[in-house]
Amino acid sequence: KKIVVLISGSGSNLQALIDNQLSGQLGGQIAAVISNKQQAYGLVRANNANISTHVVNHQDYSNREDYDQALSEVIDTYQPDLVVLAGFMRILTAAFVQKYVGKMLNIHPSLLPKYQGLNTHQRAIDAGDKMHGVSVHFVTEELDGGPVVCQAKIEVTDSDTAETLAQRIHAKEHIIYPKVVRWFCQQRLKMHHNQAWLDDKVL
Ligand code: GRF
Repeated sequence: KKIVVLISGSGSNLQALIDNQLSGQLGGQIAAVISNKQQAYGLVRANNANISTHVVNHQDYSNREDYDQALSEVIDTYQPDLVVLAGFMRILTAAFVQKYVGKMLNIHPSLLPKYQGLNTHQRAIDAGDKMHGVSVHFVTEELDGGPVVCQAKIEVTDSDTAETLAQRIHAKEHIIYPKVVRWFCQQRLKMHHNQAWLDDKVL
C-alpha cells in the first residue's frame, strides 16, 4: 500500500511511521511527505529516510480552495491508498476531504469527542480531567469529528502541565498511529456509513 503523509512540524509521528516501515511493521510504504511549511523538521526526517518531499506553502495561495486543489494535485501524482495527517495544522475544505474520504486518517491529542480543535492538553487540565489521551480517526468534513479508530489513555496528575501531558501523549501516539496504519494497509480497517470498522466489527 502506498501512503502519503502530510505534516506541518516536528514530524515525530512521521518518524514513528518511518521506523515501523524500516522494521517491516507498517504493511505499507511512505511514497511522499508533504508539508505546508518549508521549515518543518519532518522534512529532514523524510530526506534522511530517502522519502520524496514536497512543500505546498499555504502562503502562496489566496484561499483554501486553491490551496487544497494544489495540495491534492501533488498527492494524486503518487496515487496513494492512504493519506496520513501527522500534525498537519490546516483546516481542510469539504471538497478535499470528500476526495479522500475513507482513506484519510488523522491523529488528535485528546480523547475525542472531547476537546476538538487546539490547546487540548491545557483544556484537559483546566477541566480537572483525571484521564487524557489521544485518538486516531478517519477524516470527515466535521473537524476532528470523524469516526474514531483507536484511543490511548494517560492519567493526569496534579503536577502535570500541558508540556508534561504533551510528552506522555506523544509516546502513546508513536505506538498507536503505526498500528492503525498497519490495520488499514492490511485491509482490516475501513470506513463505512460514517463508522470505523475493524475486521468486520464496528469500532
Ligand atoms: C501531535 O500531537 C498530533 O496529535 C497533533 O499534532 C502533533 C504532531 O506532532 N495532531 P509531530 O509533528 O508528529 O511530532
